[in-house]
Amino acid sequence: MTTSTSGKQGMNTRLAHGGHDPKSFHGFVNPPVVHASTVLFPNADTMRRRDQKYTYGTHGTPTTDALAAAIDALEGTAGTLLVPSGLAAVTVPLLAFLSSGDHVLITDSVYFPTRRFADTVLKRLGVAVTYYDPLIGGGIKALLQPNTKVVFTESPGSNTFEIQDIPAIAAAAHEAGAVVMMDNTWATPLYFRSVDHDVDVIIQAATKYPAGHSDVLLGTMSAIEPYFAKLEETYSALGMCAGPDDAYQTFRGLRTMGVRLEHHRKSALELAQWLEQEEGVAEVLHPALESFPSHDLWKRDFTGSSGVFSIVLDSANTAQTDAFLDALQIFGLGYSWGGFESLAVPVSLADRTVASRDYAGPVIRLQIGLEDVEDLKADLTKALAAAKSA
Ligand SMILES: Cc1ncc(COP(=O)(O)O)c(C=O)c1O
Repeated sequence: MTTSTSGKQGMNTRLAHGGHDPKSFHGFVNPPVVHASTVLFPNADTMRRRDQKYTYGTHGTPTTDALAAAIDALEGTAGTLLVPSGLAAVTVPLLAFLSSGDHVLITDSVYFPTRRFADTVLKRLGVAVTYYDPLIGGGIKALLQPNTKVVFTESPGSNTFEIQDIPAIAAAAHEAGAVVMMDNTWATPLYFRSVDHDVDVIIQAATKYPAGHSDVLLGTMSAIEPYFAKLEETYSALGMCAGPDDAYQTFRGLRTMGVRLEHHRKSALELAQWLEQEEGVAEVLHPALESFPSHDLWKRDFTGSSGVFSIVLDSANTAQTDAFLDALQIFGLGYSWGGFESLAVPVSLADRTVASRDYAGPVIRLQIGLEDVEDLKADLTKALAAAKSA
């Protein structure tokens, strides 16, 4: 497939034109939505040699190819594959690169379902799992074992937003022969280019910012050489392909991801700065705030911040947390983020094993949507007052 963009163009130009060349499909600006299992061959010889671009629905269609090509160009990787959810984009690479007797290092600030997969399926398959402090940096060297095959990173960390020193971790991992994976869902390739920081396999829950409208589940897995072939082998073996409508909707969302992210970024940062001064808020966990402990690493490696961060309430009891959440009228209570609407969710850190920190009160994660900031401020002001008087 062809894309009409070059790596030298600006990000929004690439988002607007990547992945699909209208000339390849009668001039239509968008790619066709191909629903397919069977693909016909013109004759027996072609069929025997499988000598045509498309051979079976699970191996790709013009729709899935368009999205994969667009993401691949943004990531700067050797190949990108689509799976039915962000969680699948985490589990398939782990299955691809780990075998019985291997060891994996996973950041303790990881998205909880990633931990659940490691603690259940990976352990059952005979893989040893160690969690490490997200702030360990080059100190990870001490945890690498001769059988460590994968170092799994997620930066910022889920819910608490610790920024990892990815280049230092990658240098140590590579010296020990381990593959570096990163869940880069928060920043997307717009705000953190994983390949420029020595990541080998990049995971995105495209459910979030690429799809962007809270109505699609999709994951992308991208890898540099020589890792792509191994990733593709396991992906094909598992038969875990994404559906055409979800791929199309995500491709559609990707076109506007740059402008949406910029709006999320600005609003979230403004609210984070404002919340830092508000009575009832003990702490704001947002990597772009100067007060945030790993802010320097964010400043060094990231080119922007997205719309999700946490606040620590200075109230101590559940009734106050519930009063805060129940008073919100614009913010909905829901988990999956990256859509157009603001959300709040109480966070449990009970799963942490090595990086648990004492926060002054309950942690609430906020996803800042595309609404007007003044309205969101008013909603949060009401909720803080409700917590105070509960
Ligand atoms: C960091 C991170 N990775 C992966 C996922 C999984 O995405 P999905 O909901 O598409 O399975 C999520 C979902 O919240 C997430 O926050």
